[in-house]
Amino acid sequence: VVFSEDNSRVTAELPTGESVTVLLYGATVISWKDAAGDEKLWLSEAAKLDGSKAVRGGIPIVFPVFGTAPTHPQTKSLPQHGFARTSRWEFLGKSTSESMAGPAANEPTVKLDFGLSSAAPGLDPLATTNWPFRFNLIYSVTLKRDSLTTSIVATNDDAQPFDCQVLLHTYLRVKDITTVEITGLADATYIDKVDNATTKTSTTPTTTITSETDRVYTPASPSSPVTVSTSGTPLYHVTRDNLANVVIWNPWTAKAAAMADFEPKEGFRNMLCVEPGAVAGWQSVEAGDAFEGAQTIALAN
Ligand code: BG6
Repeated sequence: VVFSEDNSRVTAELPTGESVTVLLYGATVISWKDAAGDEKLWLSEAAKLDGSKAVRGGIPIVFPVFGTAPTHPQTKSLPQHGFARTSRWEFLGKSTSESMAGPAANEPTVKLDFGLSSAAPGLDPLATTNWPFRFNLIYSVTLKRDSLTTSIVATNDDAQPFDCQVLLHTYLRVKDITTVEITGLADATYIDKVDNATTKTSTTPTTTITSETDRVYTPASPSSPVTVSTSGTPLYHVTRDNLANVVIWNPWTAKAAAMADFEPKEGFRNMLCVEPGAVAGWQSVEAGDAFEGAQTIALAN
């Protein structure tokens, strides 16, 4: 495993050529390439990577609030999507298949671990004032030849329970959004955020994106994958571990135009956010307890 690290990012490359890059700011995965060097994630050309703003693209981490929650006393003063994506995380270290036991030992694998706690120097100052709990987050990014897994453990180190929401805001790269079909959402109920947060039920076996889309799905089966295909060919299978929801987001023309850090403006045609999360309601984490959730994005071909 080839490995490089500077004070802003960590990159790991498998002997077979696949690679992943994680920015310490937000522990944001900003690149995931296959063996041919093809990028799997969408990253805006105008994304700020200098720690001045949450990264537009890649995989930002949403914690402890999804969107804003003006009526939820514990999180009502936090910025949109919380502070994990605007804090500087610490790189805790790496493990490779050589050092792993079990199935991982048999295939090239690298796992990168990152940490953020209430005592961390890199914590967004907004967290301390607006969410005064003692907590510890561990985020692990595991690269295998044909998949990327990202998992989070949120531990409550406080003497009282706290509520949180967790979401992995993955921007998948696609060639042409008009040819994309999403399966695995049939019969799922969803909150349609572009239609006054109305609750609806998905009735068709496939979902296509033809306009601004912002939906919080609760798929019927927590373990069945959400598959993103293009012109009938599967590209990505997204599976979830302990994350009951999937947000499907595409800003389309007007919303993309309105985001200063979204470039090129036509870039919405090359991205689809498939965001596994626990965001419908709250996870109450008892003192000393932890919430764990993970996504795996498997390459379908
Ligand atoms: C999605 C939300 O998860 O994130 C959308 O469902 C939101 O409502 C989008 O617009 C992007 O959020 P932000 O804060 O990164 O612009």
